[in-house]
Amino acid sequence: MKKYNVCMVGIGAVGTEIVRLLRKRNFPMAKLTAFARSERTEMIDGLPVEVKVATGPESFRGYDFAFFAGTEGAKGASKTLGWEAASVGCTVIDNGDDFRMDPRVPLCIPEINPEALRANQNFVSNPNCSTAIALMPLYALHKEAGIKRIVCCTYQAVSGAGAAAIRELADETRAWAAGEPMPEHKVFPAQIAFNVVAQIGSESKDMPGYTSEEVKLGRETRKILGDDSIQVVSTCVRVPVFNSHSEALHVEFHRPLSPERAREILSHTPGVKVLDDLAASEFPTPIAATGHYDAFVGRIRKDPTVENGLSLFVSGDNIWKGAAQNAIQIAEKMIEMGLK
Ligand SMILES: NC(=O)c1ccc[n+]([C@@H]2O[C@H](COP(=O)([O-])OP(=O)(O)OC[C@H]3O[C@@H](n4cnc5c(N)ncnc54)[C@H](OP(=O)(O)O)[C@@H]3O)[C@@H](O)[C@H]2O)c1
Repeated sequence: MKKYNVCMVGIGAVGTEIVRLLRKRNFPMAKLTAFARSERTEMIDGLPVEVKVATGPESFRGYDFAFFAGTEGAKGASKTLGWEAASVGCTVIDNGDDFRMDPRVPLCIPEINPEALRANQNFVSNPNCSTAIALMPLYALHKEAGIKRIVCCTYQAVSGAGAAAIRELADETRAWAAGEPMPEHKVFPAQIAFNVVAQIGSESKDMPGYTSEEVKLGRETRKILGDDSIQVVSTCVRVPVFNSHSEALHVEFHRPLSPERAREILSHTPGVKVLDDLAASEFPTPIAATGHYDAFVGRIRKDPTVENGLSLFVSGDNIWKGAAQNAIQIAEKMIEMGLK
C-alpha cells in the first residue's frame, strides 16, 4: 500500500489530536513532521514528534498532505503558508475559517459531500466544529424531508478555543476550589468557570448583532448541503465543559417527518449514534461523546409550534469530528477516491 508524507502546521489542541488520530487510524504514513512557531520535540503519548518552523513553499515540498491547525487571520498559518504549500503539490487540509467560503476551496464532511473533493486545487477546508456536529444528523434528515429552516442553540466546550482556553477553565476552577481569588480571564470575554458566555467570536460585520461563530453555522451549512435556500439562525454559547460541543436543533422541513421515522433514519446513518430514551434518562452528553467518532443524537421529538417541525439534541467531540478526525477523513477519502 502506498504511504504518504504528512506534515501539520500547529501542534496545539487540534494538532495534538491529529497526531493521535493519525496513529490510531493507522493512516498510511511514511513520515510525519510538525511545523509551529518554534523548533522543538513534542512528546505525544510517549512518542516524539519533531517540530520545525516552516519558512515558505520549500518547507512543504515532498509532502503529500499538510494538516493546518494554526491560528487564523492575516498573520495566521493558513494565510501566510497555505497556498504556498499547495503550490508545491502538497494538499492542504485547513481547520481554520480563512478559506471555507472561498469558491476555489471545497468545504467537506466526507460522509456528506465527498464529491466536492473532486474540484480541489490542493486546498480543502474543514468546517467549523459546530457545523460539523450539527450536520452529522441533519444531512440524512435533509435528504428525507428537505430542511427549510434551522434554529440552533449551542453549548460549546472550552477546547474549541484552543489549549490556552482549556488551561483557563482549569485554573479558574482550581482557584475557586481552593478559595483563592479568581484569576484574570484572558481567553474568554468573561469568567468561564461556573458561568455561561454568550459570545463566541467577534461581532459580524455582515450580520450586526450576531457573532462570527453564529454566521459560520448558516453559511457553511448552505455550502456543505449545497442548498442556498436553507435558513439558519443561532445563538452560540460557551459553557464550562472541557470537551465536546452540544447543540439544541429546532428544524423545520419542507415535508412531514415523524420522530419515529427520523430515529429510524438516524439509526442507519454513518457517523451518527442515537441515544434517545427520555424515560430511561438516555440522551447525548458531552462527557459521553468525548473520544468517539460518532455524533450522538437524542431528544428527538415533534416541534408542535411549526408545520413539519422536529427538535433534537446532539453532542459531538469538537476536537475529533469537529476538527482532527474530519480532516483525516478528508485525506482518507481523497486516497479512496484516487485523488491522491
Ligand atoms: N479547537 C477546536 O475545537 C477547533 C475546531 C475546529 C477548528 N479549529 C481551528 O483549528 C485551528 C487550531 O486550533 P487549536 O484549538 O489547536 O489552537 P491552539 O491550541 O491555540 O494551537 C495553535 C497552534 O498553532 C501554532 N501556530 C500559530 N500560528 C502559527 C503560524 N503562523 N505558523 C505556524 N504555526 C502557528 C502554534 O504554535 P506554537 O505551539 O509554536 O505556539 C500552536 O501549536 C484554529 O484555526 C481553530 O480555529 C479548532
